[in-house]
Amino acid sequence: MSKHTIVLIPGDGIGPEVTHAAQQVINAAGVDINWITCPAGADAIEHHGHSDVLPDVTLDAIRKHKIALKGPVTTPVGKGFKSVNVQLRQKLNLFAAVRPVRSLAGVATRYEGVDMVIVRENTEGLYTGIENEIVPGVVTSMKVATKNACTRIARYAFDYAMKRNRRKVTVFHKANIMKLTDGMFLNCAREVHEKEFPQVAYDELIIDAGCMKLVQDPAKFDVLLMENLYGDLVSDLCAGLVGGLGVVPGSNIGEDVAVFEAVHGSAPDIAGKGIANPLACIMSGVMMLNHIGETIAASRIRDAYNQLLANSKTRTGDLGGSANTAEFTQALIDTMK
Ligand code: NAI
Repeated sequence: MSKHTIVLIPGDGIGPEVTHAAQQVINAAGVDINWITCPAGADAIEHHGHSDVLPDVTLDAIRKHKIALKGPVTTPVGKGFKSVNVQLRQKLNLFAAVRPVRSLAGVATRYEGVDMVIVRENTEGLYTGIENEIVPGVVTSMKVATKNACTRIARYAFDYAMKRNRRKVTVFHKANIMKLTDGMFLNCAREVHEKEFPQVAYDELIIDAGCMKLVQDPAKFDVLLMENLYGDLVSDLCAGLVGGLGVVPGSNIGEDVAVFEAVHGSAPDIAGKGIANPLACIMSGVMMLNHIGETIAASRIRDAYNQLLANSKTRTGDLGGSANTAEFTQALIDTMK
């Protein structure tokens, strides 16, 4: 019997390409995993005969086995089904998105020394897409914030900062305009800081100014705490500081379930061409291995991609190289040997 059972959700677009690469690298690192492949997204209906884009079989498998590695899933723009990601995070109560953003030696960017972690509230806010048409031509979108969820994510961020010896937690907010919702988010962060984590340095920035400061001097930031929609936007901005979406991993953490996935989406513009950068998904796999206690294998993979990027020109097109997904993956596996 395998030591670990992990649910694999290939997703769509470049999802199957990058999750396959991650699976190969994790297997090559010697971790004994029984992978259970489950569908999500339009693929679940079109190719697997399910009636839902997030079938019960997928949800039940994650609930049972606790850990999943997920590829991106396309969400139709301006019409169609509700985001699979929003549903997955809400149904499994994956309340914290954790997204490390780091400069990589050998990846040329405008900045050096970036080492941040975005902690994003993952279940509430405008991002959940609660919308209504009041009358034709008048629509609303509802932003919900609850004290429980705001306190829970603040506690998670401070606890994370403390346990990992991070320097500071910075809250990005817009409480000058959204005085009730973002005001509550801010008050909960202040309260958790004062009462539970006074030893962790804390500051707060109105998000527009925060974004300006991020692109001026990102190395000044450490843990960034924010609500759902801001976390979505700031994640891609921060990816741009360190080489792009191909190099930023992530996890969605719940009480006893965790789903690991890159920040990027299904990249329809390059899907099926075999040229996607699998690194963000592989890095998400490394986060997953650390989470399940396979720290030696996690370090092997991390050391290998650091070495490969720093000492060779082997990289995918998004990083200025000419390797395709399979070539980069094989070079990474060879570096681990
Ligand atoms: P995207 O992240 O898919 O792509 C943005 C740009 O980055 C594209 O030019 C793409 O080619 C490039 N890119 C992204 N990942 C890459 C990789 N690994 N290697 C090389 N290039 C990469 O964002 P977009 O276009 O806004 O969204 C496309 C679809 O993905 C939408 O349906 C969206 O809803 C969905 N999406 C899904 C996510 C998830 O399942 N976790 C997250 C973000 C978006």
